Amino acid sequence: MGFVVEIHAASSLPVKPLLTYPNPNSNSNPNPNSIRFPSFSTTRATSPSRAFRRFSMASSSSPFSPTSPIETSSDSSLNATSSNAVGMNDLLIVGPGVLGRIIAKMWQQEFPGSKILGQTMSTDHHSELAELGIVPLLKGSPLSEKVPYVIFCAPPSRTEDYPGDVRIAASNWNGEGSFLFTSSSAPYDKYDNDWCYEDSPVVPLGRSPRTDVLLKAENVVLEAGGCVLRLAGLYKEDRGAHVYWLAKGIVDARPDHILNLIHYEDAASLSIAIMKKRLRSRIFVGCDNHPLSRQEIMDCVNRCGKFSQKFEAFVGTDGPLGKKMNNSKTREEIGWEPKYPSLPAFLGLED
Ligand SMILES: NC(=O)c1ccc[n+]([C@@H]2O[C@H](COP(=O)([O-])OP(=O)(O)OC[C@H]3O[C@@H](n4cnc5c(N)ncnc54)[C@H](OP(=O)(O)O)[C@@H]3O)[C@@H](O)[C@H]2O)c1
Repeated sequence: MGFVVEIHAASSLPVKPLLTYPNPNSNSNPNPNSIRFPSFSTTRATSPSRAFRRFSMASSSSPFSPTSPIETSSDSSLNATSSNAVGMNDLLIVGPGVLGRIIAKMWQQEFPGSKILGQTMSTDHHSELAELGIVPLLKGSPLSEKVPYVIFCAPPSRTEDYPGDVRIAASNWNGEGSFLFTSSSAPYDKYDNDWCYEDSPVVPLGRSPRTDVLLKAENVVLEAGGCVLRLAGLYKEDRGAHVYWLAKGIVDARPDHILNLIHYEDAASLSIAIMKKRLRSRIFVGCDNHPLSRQEIMDCVNRCGKFSQKFEAFVGTDGPLGKKMNNSKTREEIGWEPKYPSLPAFLGLED
């Protein structure tokens, strides 16, 4: 997707952020009405000592024929196992893009030997995923068995039915570990550059199709027992709002609109920390607690010396203001702090 730092609109939902629900930790499917997919099958390697382990794909639109195995090296850097049995820490990543791949890498370090499946929109990046030790699957590919951990980190931009895609992801969760949906902080109903928290109100359904999509998807997750992580604008050096604005040079937007940010690595570490808690039907926020105006962001970019281009100006004078997100409640409950406390710190402008 192109970056979307804040999408404005919202809805009211029959859920409360940071509510405590019992953790069932049960084997039962949390969503009895969910669609059951018949079979993603992994074939057992004939010998564990073989140099290559085989995964047979059930996807008809895979670049690999339905019956041909994908061969992945059994080198220890590839943690996918050859067993049909679902491991207690196996993870399905729906949308293994920038965030999903960082999560996969951290998960491999956290749970060596766990199997990581990555479900994508196209086959375009399947070979890259296989090289990263992620078993690539096309969206709609059936899984032979549900998995204990599912994270949905695909953006809403490339599907006609985002809540439907999330429902399918929920149906692949076996209800044991965690199901986490990476949403956005956009639905918070705050446009005056003032403070906003996990439990601040969201605007009602029906105000904007863009936020309706997010809120309906969140509802699917919460009803299935999964958790929602509302992320601020994601960035790394070569991706994020600052890169987009730098490329444009002059941007028709007001400079004083306040944005909220979180580094991709921190969004990944927070996602994993939440999943490890095995909570149910909760809403968290992911941000660095260092809100900045558009102008402040680009001043940092111009000053840091890491970019060859110079940003010129924001020339807009109207449009809504933003908000200042604070996720202290999330941090306290999850026991998490970001590695990069702010964009200026990441860019080397602050200690
Ligand atoms: N970027 C931001 O500032 C921001 C802010 C708030 C929240 N978020 C959320 O953070 C998450 C991660 O963002 P990101 O930048 O890492 O995303 P990304 O890199 O754009 O994700 C791309 C990946 O998602 C796959 N994909 C796209 N639509 C899909 C669908 N409907 N079903 C299955 N797979 C699909 C793509 O498949 P292919 O390999 O076929 O391309 C690719 O693997 C997303 O949920 C996004 O909405 C982002």
